[in-house]
Amino acid sequence: MSFRNEPILELRRATEREALLAALRELDARLPLTVPVLIGGERGAAAGLQSTDPGAPERLVAEAGQAGAAEAAAAVETAQRGFADWGSRPAAQRAEALRGAAARLRERRLELAALQVRECAKPWPEADADVCEAIDFLEYYALEALELERGRDLIQVPGERNRMRYAPRGVVAVIAPWNFPLAIPCGMTAAALAAGNAAVLKPAEQAPASAGALVDALHEGGVPREAVSLLPGYGEAGAALVSDPHVHVIAFTGSGAVGLEIVRAAAETPEGQGHVKRVVSEMGGKNCVIVDADADLDEAVPGIVQSAFAYAGQKCSAAARVLVHEAVADTLVERLAGATEVLRVGQAEEFATEVPPVIEREAQERVLGYGEIAEREGRVAGRAAPVPESGWFCPPAIAVGLPERSAVNREEIFGPLLSVTSVRGIEEACDVVDALPFALTGGLFSRNPATVERVAERLPVGNLYVNRGITGAMVGRQPFGGNRRSGIGAKAGGPDYLLQFVEPRVVTENTMRQGIPVE
Ligand SMILES: NC(=O)c1ccc[n+]([C@@H]2O[C@H](COP(=O)([O-])OP(=O)(O)OC[C@H]3O[C@@H](n4cnc5c(N)ncnc54)[C@H](O)[C@@H]3O)[C@@H](O)[C@H]2O)c1
Repeated sequence: MSFRNEPILELRRATEREALLAALRELDARLPLTVPVLIGGERGAAAGLQSTDPGAPERLVAEAGQAGAAEAAAAVETAQRGFADWGSRPAAQRAEALRGAAARLRERRLELAALQVRECAKPWPEADADVCEAIDFLEYYALEALELERGRDLIQVPGERNRMRYAPRGVVAVIAPWNFPLAIPCGMTAAALAAGNAAVLKPAEQAPASAGALVDALHEGGVPREAVSLLPGYGEAGAALVSDPHVHVIAFTGSGAVGLEIVRAAAETPEGQGHVKRVVSEMGGKNCVIVDADADLDEAVPGIVQSAFAYAGQKCSAAARVLVHEAVADTLVERLAGATEVLRVGQAEEFATEVPPVIEREAQERVLGYGEIAEREGRVAGRAAPVPESGWFCPPAIAVGLPERSAVNREEIFGPLLSVTSVRGIEEACDVVDALPFALTGGLFSRNPATVERVAERLPVGNLYVNRGITGAMVGRQPFGGNRRSGIGAKAGGPDYLLQFVEPRVVTENTMRQGIPVE
């Protein structure tokens, strides 16, 4: 069995577009969806948390349960029971269930893409790619689990037998963000389950329905109910999971502020907790694209615009800064500004939309606030207009001339604002990147192989993309994750990822006297 990425839909075909719009109409007729707290076989309340359409905030997408500390404790207790069964199953059986879940997502892919359009204002191409990535995670980790079960080869000497195998850790708390509403919770949950752990999923409060669909698919695929529970809710439910002494691994993806708090809280070893928690924390970035004097600007401009503004800049991998050689800076700024001004800002459901609204009011206020700082401390060279009035829209903009210490240059904005800085050369560009606390993705446009090598050597980023856009990592092709304050952990969608969810055990046997009676 081998892995191949799930093919994305060909949206240039009218039939594909019509099928998606039909799925959206069907979904609309069913709104609001109901997403209860799901603990083992028990369906809890589906009230307390509402998710709304960022493009039309009066549209209620889902009415979900609001789990708190009590539900978190109950889910962990259930997961302990679930672990006893699931963790003792052979990898082949677990892999089959994960593949069953992938098949279920594939059957529902149009509907699930439509759900992301509504719940997170994710435009169709990104929504479709998100569903494909979720399928990929399930199938990739299913194969990795089989590989892991084989253990590792060790050196053997006469009279001694050495074996190394991997055992699941126990209960995994999965705490997910909203910006890849299906793929990211799916990746972390699938990895936990593939390795033989039980999982409790706490999705982002902005996207409970996508997570509900994931957990349904896992159950329908054959993962026992006690092995995966769903806790829709706010940060409080996540914090309760983090401090629970019966949780063994915390798999978190989200902001740096929350991630670092989790790392600190998880270090506690209260009385009665016989283990140290393992934390996987994938956090934010401030991703820079370097453009050298010899770059092909016809390639760089669309690559940068797409990386900065697709999904309104709300990808952790999105381009936030451009560091351009002074020899081509004016030309690049002029071209980027021109390309930004004509971007189509609109509703996610419209196929022509290039920049959708941001996720919520708070995000809109944050992004517009950074825009004001950019105007005060530098200049806005280009901005798209008009933007729709209702919905959490922010015009994509290019800021220039900002001092290095500006918050716009140093903090993660997570919205459609791109800062362009002129540098004297590649070394200075690398110095700027090196001085940032983040190291998630990065980009380089250059025609010189020596420059490519030099930059690849110098940049600390987890994923560097050369002469292309810097988003869209594919499972198995671009294992993904950041360094420094952008993340601690092995790369998602890569061969090391499952190792975080297991503990290695080595058994050494003296075989010299086997079979010889000792007495
Ligand atoms: N590195 C990556 O792979 C990656 C991928 C996607 C998103 N991100 C980052 O995620 C962020 C956007 O997502 P977000 O707004 O959902 O992030 P967030 O940190 O606000 O929330 C993430 C999750 O943590 C929960 N949470 C909040 N407070 C908590 C607490 N005290 N204890 C435990 N859990 C708590 C939230 O309810 C949510 O489920 C951006 O910073 C982005 O860069 C990183």
